[in-house]
Amino acid sequence: MGSGKIIAIAAMDESRVIGIDNRIPWHLPEDLKRFSALTTGHVVLMGRKTFDSLPAKWKPLPNRRNVVLTRQSAATFPAGVEVWHELDSHLAGPAGGVPLKAGENLWVIGGEEIYLMTLPYWDEVYLTLVPGTHQGDAFFPRFEDHFELLTSERGQDCSFLHYVRKEVN
Ligand SMILES: NC(=O)c1ccc[n+]([C@@H]2O[C@H](COP(=O)([O-])OP(=O)(O)OC[C@H]3O[C@@H](n4cnc5c(N)ncnc54)[C@H](OP(=O)(O)O)[C@@H]3O)[C@@H](O)[C@H]2O)c1
Repeated sequence: MGSGKIIAIAAMDESRVIGIDNRIPWHLPEDLKRFSALTTGHVVLMGRKTFDSLPAKWKPLPNRRNVVLTRQSAATFPAGVEVWHELDSHLAGPAGGVPLKAGENLWVIGGEEIYLMTLPYWDEVYLTLVPGTHQGDAFFPRFEDHFELLTSERGQDCSFLHYVRKEVN
């Protein structure tokens, strides 16, 4: 990896739910706005199912380098999408990982499978806490033991938490 950071961003409820039937169980415009503001100009990494779940007009997410992980060698994606078939050589490979431009970060934007497999590489986490519990079949992994909470901000209908990985002495 170059000088950029690997940052996970997600919205989860009080039971760690992030999705149901390949969609997000709530609609929070203030969170979508924040997601857009944080990730614009950077690289976004997502699983194929999360890519499928995006509305057609947001495929690919504008003004971001979109990277989609899939094991399907024959899968086709719209122009502007970069496809990876495995993760390790990109994030921890001998070539130093993802070539990022100066000032660019790699934002891991889900879903559950992709969060789980990239967790060891995360430098920071931007987590939106959605009040209550929802029906879910996709969850955000436990990461808190290895991170410290830097800031917590109340939104209108949710809270915005920012964590950084704890220093290992
Ligand atoms: N609340 C939030 O912040 C948030 C954010 C994002 C997503 N979500 C939700 O999360 C759910 C989707 O999560 P998910 O876990 O089902 O799917 P996902 O992580 O989005 O995508 C899984 C897919 O990624 C590909 N993949 C996984 N591991 C791979 C590997 N090692 N190498 C290559 N490709 C690999 C496979 O694609 P192929 O099957 O094509 O091989 C796999 O089916 C949806 O409900 C979505 O709405 C919520």
